[in-house]
Amino acid sequence: MAPLRIGMLGLGTVGMGTYTVLRRNAELIAGRTGRPIEMVMVAVRNLARAARLVDDEEVELVDDPFSVVNHPDIDVVVEVIGGTTLARELVLQAITNGKHVVTANKALLAVHGSEIFAAAQAQGVVVAYEGAVAVSIPIIKALREGLTANRIEWIAGIINGTTNYILSEMKDKGASFADALADAQAKGYAEADPAFDVEGVDAAHKLTLLASNAFGVPIQFDKVHVEGITQLDAVDVAFAERLGYCVKLLGIAKRNPQGLELRVHPTLVASNHLLAQVNGSMNAVMVKSDAAGVTMYYGAGAGSEQTASAVIADLVDLARSSSVVHRHRVPSLAFQHNAIVALPVAAIEDVETAYYLRLDVAKLSRTLPQVLAHLAYAGVRVQQLDVLEHPHDPELSAVVVQTEPTQQRLLQVALAALEQLPTVMGFAKTLRMERLE
Ligand code: HSE
Repeated sequence: MAPLRIGMLGLGTVGMGTYTVLRRNAELIAGRTGRPIEMVMVAVRNLARAARLVDDEEVELVDDPFSVVNHPDIDVVVEVIGGTTLARELVLQAITNGKHVVTANKALLAVHGSEIFAAAQAQGVVVAYEGAVAVSIPIIKALREGLTANRIEWIAGIINGTTNYILSEMKDKGASFADALADAQAKGYAEADPAFDVEGVDAAHKLTLLASNAFGVPIQFDKVHVEGITQLDAVDVAFAERLGYCVKLLGIAKRNPQGLELRVHPTLVASNHLLAQVNGSMNAVMVKSDAAGVTMYYGAGAGSEQTASAVIADLVDLARSSSVVHRHRVPSLAFQHNAIVALPVAAIEDVETAYYLRLDVAKLSRTLPQVLAHLAYAGVRVQQLDVLEHPHDPELSAVVVQTEPTQQRLLQVALAALEQLPTVMGFAKTLRMERLE
């Protein structure tokens, strides 16, 4: 059979990994696919640098990315330049030219996915993106195909490798946030702008795509509640550990009676929970569905060849299905275009979770009854209360409350009152808790 001809945009971490693995495993991949996959053109920013990396007469290096998307002999465009401006333009142009697209660009799809998938549908081409979510883990395939019989109740995952790496280094090695981040950047885990990682935005991009696949909802990144790890206090990470919990940045998409919850935030999970065992740059995604029950997927969450593995899996799918009529292909978002239905997304104030709450308190015996009274008055039920030594001030006690599941708006009422008390110092620290079973 004729080879599948690839043009790639970008030769950074993911691009180089894709080129390397495709070349190294060419024979194996052709055997599995039934036809060779040939990279024929790569658009790069620096031709001299690229020529040193790609020692291959079969691959034409160009510095104009439009010459790739407009090339008549290219079947599939692999977009790994990142960003949402030029990448959007190039991807739409490739689609207009009738080319399939494989991308690892979660930001692009979370922000412009509706437009891109609609254009692909109209042109009868595929936009595949396994490498965009939890890189090495075939979670898009699992949702779209493996779990297709199921009604999904929730997805919860560690879907950003950089933040998981930072949290693990801080917890296990006592590293500082800044050192751990610098290390993650040096290892090639972080985004070009690492604020996307540490502010939770990258995880929200991925959650947006997971939710569309799981629930058949439109792509709605702007409705995800996003909190990163920059406000996390090392004191709370240490207290959480003493109380039997681990802090993880989770992306959660969940049906509730009002609609859908879409949220990314640091979360306390029990130390013996499977998600608490996911360390370093590893990712894991748990899915609760009605027939299969809880399933869990674990693997590298960042990295060059790890992402390439997913990008090439998409290429193999395309090579195998190129003769299939478009409407018979697995749809881009698990649901057929006309089956996508908007579920209302719950306001974060209405979302109910258990909370960890820390108050720095003076005059403990007098203040404690007031704390309990204010919580009770707001309707926040206490599941457990611990008084711990304050790490920085011997005059203070740290009162740590674990609440029953409660709406954020009720907790806010209680906090507003508690923070007014003259013996409660500063602001309360709160973190959500999840059981996930
Ligand atoms: N910066 C991303 C992460 C890369 O750390 O997860 C993989 O998407």
